[in-house]
Amino acid sequence: MIVGVPREIKLGEQRVALTPAGARSLAEAGHRVLIEPGAGAGSGFTDDEYTAAGAALDAVDRVWADAAMVLKVKEPVAEEYARLRAGQVLFTYLHLAAVPELARALARAGTIAIAYETVERADRSLPLLTPMSEVAGRLAVQEGAYYLGKARGGRGILLSGVPGVPRGNVVIIGAGTVGISAAKSAVGLEADVSLLDVNLDRLRAADDLFRGRVVTIASNSYNIAQVAVRADLLIGAVLIAGARAPLLVPRSLVERMKPGSVIVDVAVDQGGSIETIRPTTLLEPVYQVGGVVHYGVANMPALVPRTSTFALTNATLPYVLALANRGVAAAVRQDPELARGANVWAGKLVHPAVAAALGETATPLDAVVR
Ligand SMILES: NC(=O)c1ccc[n+]([C@@H]2O[C@H](COP(=O)([O-])OP(=O)(O)OC[C@H]3O[C@@H](n4cnc5c(N)ncnc54)[C@H](O)[C@@H]3O)[C@@H](O)[C@H]2O)c1
Repeated sequence: MIVGVPREIKLGEQRVALTPAGARSLAEAGHRVLIEPGAGAGSGFTDDEYTAAGAALDAVDRVWADAAMVLKVKEPVAEEYARLRAGQVLFTYLHLAAVPELARALARAGTIAIAYETVERADRSLPLLTPMSEVAGRLAVQEGAYYLGKARGGRGILLSGVPGVPRGNVVIIGAGTVGISAAKSAVGLEADVSLLDVNLDRLRAADDLFRGRVVTIASNSYNIAQVAVRADLLIGAVLIAGARAPLLVPRSLVERMKPGSVIVDVAVDQGGSIETIRPTTLLEPVYQVGGVVHYGVANMPALVPRTSTFALTNATLPYVLALANRGVAAAVRQDPELARGANVWAGKLVHPAVAAALGETATPLDAVVR
């Protein structure tokens, strides 16, 4: 199969859908990889690294025109819509519910669009979202620690403390992928860490994992109020699948937090769970409310594109190989995880949740896969 990797052109996106290691794996399996020159630059890969791994460089027009499967990171932007074409497989993050015009463009073009974010295992976990949550959770602590610096608007706290001076206090609400990853970083910095969740099994797992290094607390409004006023760094890491994040820290509680404390609400992409949070960008990540620093970056992995590219492609490559080796129809027939990734196929919306979000009824995948 000819597999094409264009350079990402969405504003601020520095990741790339395939590493040189991935290119080598595809080449070893007998596939031809076409890379747009400079596609890996934002993640620190040179064109030479790709060619040494067996890929060929080609102009963006040729990459899209010749590839049977195009690998991307972000959804195509408007200027790429004209490149979409019938029967071509597009494997990328799509988030179609947020861009109905793209869903229409994919259907019109006859593209076979498989979305990273809806590839789903039998246990309902989302293997192509998990790596970005792992990055965001660890980064939440790194960024939070940075903004606790006095010159950055924070309280002037070193999270680890020093002999004779207590550690800083980190409160993490939500003990899922983001929350556990944040706890690992915070424990690594030797901070004083509290972790809250409504799911006691998550807290049991954290208790076993951290062996006394993290205080686990049942999440309810009473307990949240008690820990928030002690926090130097408060991290929001909750998710209710398919819904807006629940509002857990009201403005009145933010106003009682310590001046110079820092809030990083990772769940801001789902509306956030802190009443005073709003989405920010990496160019202007923070603002203050009542002396409390608020960090609301909705695409945190973009700050560390090289790590994020490795993390993402480690997870996508097995699916990429399955699609290339078997062909898309056989791959989705044999692998229910990949089948759940199918969003648009031969002009039809085939994912029930995506179709519902766009006010349409999904066509069963079986009816279109030949
Ligand atoms: N900002 C970014 O760049 C970025 C990057 C990655 C992920 N995210 C977002 O981070 C959020 C968390 O993702 P995840 O992968 O950790 O999800 P997850 O499903 O693994 O974990 C969510 C946790 O929240 C818990 N929870 C639900 N309601 C709660 C409540 N009232 N109090 C305490 N805990 C509660 C759940 O029990 C679960 O353990 C999502 O909204 C995700 O979209 C944002």
